[in-house]
Formats: sequence, C-alpha cells, structure tokens
Amino acid sequence: MSEAELPIELDRNSSISLAAQVASQLRAAILNGVLRPEHALPATRRLATELGISRGVVVRAFEQLSGEGFLESNGAGGTKVAVRPDINSRPPEKRKPSSTSPPADVIDLTPGRPSGSPFQDKQWRSAWKSAVAEQGQAQLPPALGTTALREAVADHLAVSRGLAVDPHDIIITGGTSDALQLVVAMLRNQTTQPRILVEDPGYPTARRVMTAAGAHIETVPVDENGLKSSQLAALKDIPDAVLVTPSHQYPLGGRMAVQERIGLLKWAEQHGVLVLEDDYDSEFRHSRMPLPAVASLPSRADVVLLGTFSKNLSPWLRCGYLVVRGDAGHRLKATREALDTPVAGVLQSAIAHYIQAGGLSRHITRARREYAHRRGLIIHRLGSRRDLELSALDGGLHAVVRFNHPEAADVAAKAMALGVRVIPLTGYYADRPAENGLVLGYGAATDLQLAKALTILSGLIKHVGQTEVQADSSDQK
Ligand SMILES: Cc1ncc(COP(=O)(O)O)c(C=O)c1O
Repeated sequence: MSEAELPIELDRNSSISLAAQVASQLRAAILNGVLRPEHALPATRRLATELGISRGVVVRAFEQLSGEGFLESNGAGGTKVAVRPDINSRPPEKRKPSSTSPPADVIDLTPGRPSGSPFQDKQWRSAWKSAVAEQGQAQLPPALGTTALREAVADHLAVSRGLAVDPHDIIITGGTSDALQLVVAMLRNQTTQPRILVEDPGYPTARRVMTAAGAHIETVPVDENGLKSSQLAALKDIPDAVLVTPSHQYPLGGRMAVQERIGLLKWAEQHGVLVLEDDYDSEFRHSRMPLPAVASLPSRADVVLLGTFSKNLSPWLRCGYLVVRGDAGHRLKATREALDTPVAGVLQSAIAHYIQAGGLSRHITRARREYAHRRGLIIHRLGSRRDLELSALDGGLHAVVRFNHPEAADVAAKAMALGVRVIPLTGYYADRPAENGLVLGYGAATDLQLAKALTILSGLIKHVGQTEVQADSSDQK
C-alpha cells in the first residue's frame, strides 16, 4: 500500500474529534494487519493536506498512537508502525490467482492473440504522450468517433485495403463485439427479434454477443470458402442480416470467390438483407493477394464492413470501426448517437496519432514478417504429414489442423497437461457435427515457443507413419 492510500475517512458531523477519528482508524488498521510493522506513515503535513485538516490534528493523533505504542517516531526519519510482539497483525490475505488466467509458463495458442510488440514501440508511447497532452478532456468524445480517428482509419483503409472511404461513413466502435451490439440495437428499432444468418462453423463470440443483444441466430453450413449464393437462393425464410467472413472464413480460413460475393450482394439487394462483412484480419495476407472487400463492390445492397484493432494492434484496446453506407448507415449512426460511444476519447486520439505517424503500418509490416515466419514453421513441422490437413494459412494469425484420429478434445487436454493451450474446432460449430481438428493461434507465441508446441502436438496426433511418431516424441526430450 502506498502512503497516500491510508484507509481514513472522516465524519465532520460526528461528535468525536477529528484527531480521535484519525487515531482510532489508524489503530484499527494496525490491529487488523492492513498497516504492517515498519510501514512508513506519510509526513504529518502531507497527510493533513490529503485529509483536508490541520496539521495539528494529525500530530495529536500520531502522538496518541505513539503513546499507546502503536507508532514509533524516528525524528527526521518520519513515523512508522511499531513492531509489537503482542499484536498478532494478520497480513492482508493474498488474492488467489484467478482460475481463468493461464499458468505463466503455458504456451498459449488460443487464436486471436496478436504479437504483443506495439506496446514496446516508441511511436506508440509518443502517440499516447500527444493524446494525453491534448485539450478537450472536459468534454464527451463525439458519439461516432473523433474526426482525427475517423480520418486516420479512412487513410489506413486506403493504404492497407485499397478502400476509398469517406471518413463520414466511419463509426468508431469498441471492437467487433460492440459493433455487433450496435447493429442488433439498430435492427431492433424495426423488429423485436431480428434474425441474423451466420456461417457454421463461425465466430462463437459473434453468436453469443448478438444473441445476448436480442437477435435470433440462424446458421448456414459452410466449408472453408464460406457462403455460396446457391445456399442463399435456397433459403425459405429471409433473415434481416447476414454475417460473413469473406476474406478469411473464420475459422477454416478460405475465402469467398468474387462470383459468390457478387451473388451475395444481388441476393441481399433483392431481399433487403443487411450484409455484415467481418474483415477482421485482412491486413495479414501471406500467400495470395486479397480480393476486393464485399463493401467495395458496386451494389445497392446495404453493406457494413466491421474492422478491428484487435488483430493488427491489440484486443486489450477494445477499439475498432464500422464502414457504413446506405440507409442502414444512416440508421446505425442515429442509433450510435442515441446510445453514445463506449470508446474513450484519449484512446481514439492515441490510435489516430499512431496511424498518422506511420506507426500502425510499420507495426503491421513487422508483425506480418513475424507471422509469415511462424506460418512457415507450421508448414515445415506439420505440412508433410499425410494424416493431417493444414488450412487457414493464406493469411491471418491462426492455422487449422484437421485429422481423423485421435479426438481433438483429447489432444487439447493432453497438450494442456504438457503446457500447450490449443482450442478444438468443436466450439466454432453451432448446429452441425464438428470436424475433428484444432485451431492454432500463432500470433503471440515466440518462434521458440511455437516450435516446442508443434513438437508436442505433432507427437500427440497419432499418425500412420509410426517412425515419425517416434521421431517426434524423441524430439521432446
Ligand atoms: C472472426 C473474428 N472477428 C472479429 C474479431 C475481433 O473482435 P473484437 O474486435 O471484438 O476484439 C475476432 C477476434 O478474435 C475474430 O476472431
């Protein structure tokens, strides 16, 4: 506990004198172990200022406690809590580590965790310095986002995605989850329980968030290349919106062909369905050129592109954006204005400074190199195995490995016991039997950790060539 955090609260209307209140609260803190022996108390003048009382009151309280043997004055050295063998002062209970946080030495391949380096970046720190130094702290940030960040996002999308976007068509969000809540809130102004079609397998958090926000989720089975327009044409009940991951199907990792994108837009236009394009990691292409975003294709359909800083910077920030157009765009802006923004102004300023100073694009270039190298490591370690299938490696920061045997859940449990956290594919499937496989997030692990994890996983996934099993398990020693 710092000196300034002395647990003292004064009641100025009480009949008990202020000096007696200070003395009794300090005494209680010493007796119950909140203040430990040898704990240095603040100087009387400082404590008096902090409590808004005269110094004489504090001096009287200290003298009282010194007289009782609870405090020891060292003259110029200040006052500290006395050591008294008769007082069995309990140390404050140590908090148990939360059961959800992984043990420190676990290699965590949970997908969605990017390389942690932006926070060490000098430009990142200087962006925060500039943000903190700005005027305007006394007002609310604009509901749709600060002008500086909306302009910076537009610039970023032009460079990284080839998208020409008017900053007025951007809404700053607290990330994709917040964006989805906003979309559902907007749809609920028209219909009590909007129906939203999602890919199966797909992003479980999106299903959970939209359900919690009041939507009804319907699923359509997809393979790694995502939704087909023939599937949409066969639908009897038309949903209010459809959520797709055309650049990098989540989690299987293929991409939606241009013809299918055009088909999706035609269908959406014909039936008045809102298209939600989750463009979560399109900056990280490793082998093929990105296809144009659905939101950039000519159509009269309402399309909303959902972008996030969770993958290209950090999910710790909770910040992202929507690119909106058409009637849905107007309604989304109106809903955001009504609900107000959850995104801190200082965070928006810092990200805007970082983007405008070129920090984000440099960080992406650095991270892309790291990810490309780790992707190479996965291909090198697992790519030649005939008993498993690797996918999702064209881009992003996760891979999928599918195999027939053994059960992916068993592999994940055994891997965890050996210090490697991986997520089975099961959780991504909603209404159909899951394929047997694992999702390997390789964004945050170091090369060394990833190599170790791959050796362990490779050994756990039994395969046809027994000699390779032996080679793998001997690797672990
Ligand atoms: C498919 C998909 N979309 C979006 C996101 C980002 O979500 P958020 O911006 O809420 O962190 C993730 C993160 O893991 C994701 O996997």
